Amino acid sequence: MTAAPKQVPIPRKGVDYRGKVALAPMVRSGECPSRLLALKYGADLVWGPETIDKAVIGTTRHVNATTGTVDFTRFSSNGAKNPSVNADQRESVIYRLHPEREGKRLIYQIGTSNPETAVQAAKLIAPDVAGIDVNAGCPKPFSTSGGMGAALLKTPGLLCSILRALVTEVGEPNEIGISVKIRILETAKETEALVRSLCATGITGLTVHCRTTPMRPRERAIRDQLKMVATVCRESGVACLMNGDVTSRDEALELASEFGCDGAMIATAAETNPSVFRPDSDGGKAPWEEVVQEYVKTAMQVENRWGNTKFLLGQMIPGKDPMYKAMTHTKSYTAVIKALGYEVEMLDLARKVDKALEIGEYEKPKLTKSERKAANKGAKALGEQERAAQDGVHRTTAGAKRTAEMAGLDMPPDIARESGPASVPERTSALAV
Ligand SMILES: Cc1cc2nc3c(=O)[nH]c(=O)nc-3n(C[C@H](O)[C@H](O)[C@H](O)COP(=O)(O)O)c2cc1C
Repeated sequence: MTAAPKQVPIPRKGVDYRGKVALAPMVRSGECPSRLLALKYGADLVWGPETIDKAVIGTTRHVNATTGTVDFTRFSSNGAKNPSVNADQRESVIYRLHPEREGKRLIYQIGTSNPETAVQAAKLIAPDVAGIDVNAGCPKPFSTSGGMGAALLKTPGLLCSILRALVTEVGEPNEIGISVKIRILETAKETEALVRSLCATGITGLTVHCRTTPMRPRERAIRDQLKMVATVCRESGVACLMNGDVTSRDEALELASEFGCDGAMIATAAETNPSVFRPDSDGGKAPWEEVVQEYVKTAMQVENRWGNTKFLLGQMIPGKDPMYKAMTHTKSYTAVIKALGYEVEMLDLARKVDKALEIGEYEKPKLTKSERKAANKGAKALGEQERAAQDGVHRTTAGAKRTAEMAGLDMPPDIARESGPASVPERTSALAV
């Protein structure tokens, strides 16, 4: 008789990654509407975009009665950077989720390099998600320079202490699982040692992106270490998801079975067309025209920030199609609905959303020079007040002072904005709970 395979117990409110095909975490491309669409087309789980602990700490949880979303928001002190925004509108959404449509299938991915701040941030989001994942694979300087992302692969002791702290202080009390996403190291021996120590921290899942840190996204994923990683995880009872160059649900399941993994994650293929999660037996990948229409509808339902919606449309509509050019000239939902020919189904909703987001014909007039000056002054004072309050609390491993705002500003502007997906005039419809 063979013994049943070892399995780390899955907490009551958590999810088992086994047998799952998931939407991979993607800054900018993994915001709420993208995740909802992936789920609609059959993704079993969705990872949110990496959101840095220091950006989450200090946020307030709101239930948005209009969209049904839960928004974690904060007031920004960087009005000086964006003086056209009135002081009372400088509230940014740092993290948005839809509890009814994704809550039990959503994993919050945290960017962190410190067990204490990781726990502080994770505690805020934990009650609304099915799991928390630590990003130990992002190679971008905005992540690694703060000791986060792939930098953690070089400090395995720190990574393990972050995971252990999250397991005992957030996972156990909230009855959800903690997981980690890594890249492979240069040699199988190094990767094996790392995976063994990670599996001993109490995590329930591990995702391995089959590229090394210096590898570019276009380089083919390397699969020779995969079986070993899957075996080590299995010996510890930790679920193992594979990632890298997986392009559809059926392929994900085939590859997982070939390499002994428990499931897989899809990133870039799903960014272009989230219907890659639909099994071939149900029709497989849908035509982009259908997916784009669904995406626009979903984005409006959750009042997604217009800039993010437009960016995603640029990923989904083929560049050579006339619709692409028509889309690039639009500046609001109403305009894009007209450009794409969806007036009959969606024009009324588009107008409502434009009004809520104050874009297109509802955009507020720009401030005059003297109004901008006054706004700058107020923002500066507020910023100084915040910095004084936070002094000594937020420090990087290098010891430099680092406020939540600075954590956001370390990123390229487009990415920083994506971690705070919307400026929220819609805050007026949000109820703090
Ligand atoms: C636009 C974009 C944003 C990404 N953001 C994250 C992130 O926030 N966290 C993370 O762990 N990986 C991130 N990744 C990496 C993906 O999750 C994934 O590991 C990588 O793209 C390989 O999968 P693929 O070959 O299916 O694209 C991102 C990738 C892309 C394309």
